[in-house]
Amino acid sequence: MTHTLIVGATSAMATAMADRLAATDRLTLMGRNATKLSELARKHQATGLSVDVTDALELDAAMADLAPVDRLVYAVGVGARGKLATLEPHRIRDVVDANLTGFLLTMRYADAVLTEHAQVVVFGAQAGLIQHPQFAAYAAAKAGLDVAVSILRKEMRRRAFMLVAPGPVDTPFWEAVGPVPKHALTPGAVADEVMAALTLEALPERLEPNP
Ligand SMILES: NC(=O)c1ccc[n+]([C@@H]2O[C@H](COP(=O)([O-])OP(=O)(O)OC[C@H]3O[C@@H](n4cnc5c(N)ncnc54)[C@H](OP(=O)(O)O)[C@@H]3O)[C@@H](O)[C@H]2O)c1
Repeated sequence: MTHTLIVGATSAMATAMADRLAATDRLTLMGRNATKLSELARKHQATGLSVDVTDALELDAAMADLAPVDRLVYAVGVGARGKLATLEPHRIRDVVDANLTGFLLTMRYADAVLTEHAQVVVFGAQAGLIQHPQFAAYAAAKAGLDVAVSILRKEMRRRAFMLVAPGPVDTPFWEAVGPVPKHALTPGAVADEVMAALTLEALPERLEPNP
């Protein structure tokens, strides 16, 4: 049975992924919100591990007994909107930590537990939609994530990486960013596209679900 580790499992899109993957996979769910996480883990008879991805010690300890992991999904994210000079420094750090540093730390510790041919699914964003004024921290973090994925493809040659870069999706993400765009996708629609990609013989390098 495929063992899938979902990091940021309590995010709307990851929850939709878990709902679908639970039918076929053994799930390990990592998330920061302990209440939501334990509900989700109970629903899917999955292992729930409470982890803040900015904490290397927590990640290291949580990964310890997970091998073998056949598939990893990274769906952690924090958004912020506003001219850089108006953003509180802790919000700038949160955005970079959740979207970029957390991914690098996750892969640092996941390397030892991922199988040789593991699939890695990473939630990024479309540059054209976010590289605009008021999004410096978020856009820079997602651009860094994109570069990190490209380099890890070379470092971890036999593993397959897919960057999922959706258009706007109706999730709590927008609470920190502004009104949900009118034609936003549902988390379920994005999860369906990701699930379809996972069944292909070769994992696409990039998937851009759009309204
Ligand atoms: N929504 C969109 O329009 C959209 C579009 C394109 C790409 N994306 C990306 O897709 C991914 C999923 O988005 P979403 O909208 O489904 O997210 P979401 O529902 O807003 O959830 C974000 C998740 O990130 C978790 N998180 C934040 N910081 C964390 C940390 N330090 N350690 C562990 N978990 C942390 C949050 O945990 P807590 O519950 O504990 O806060 C929450 O579960 C994100 O990477 C996002 O940037 C979103």
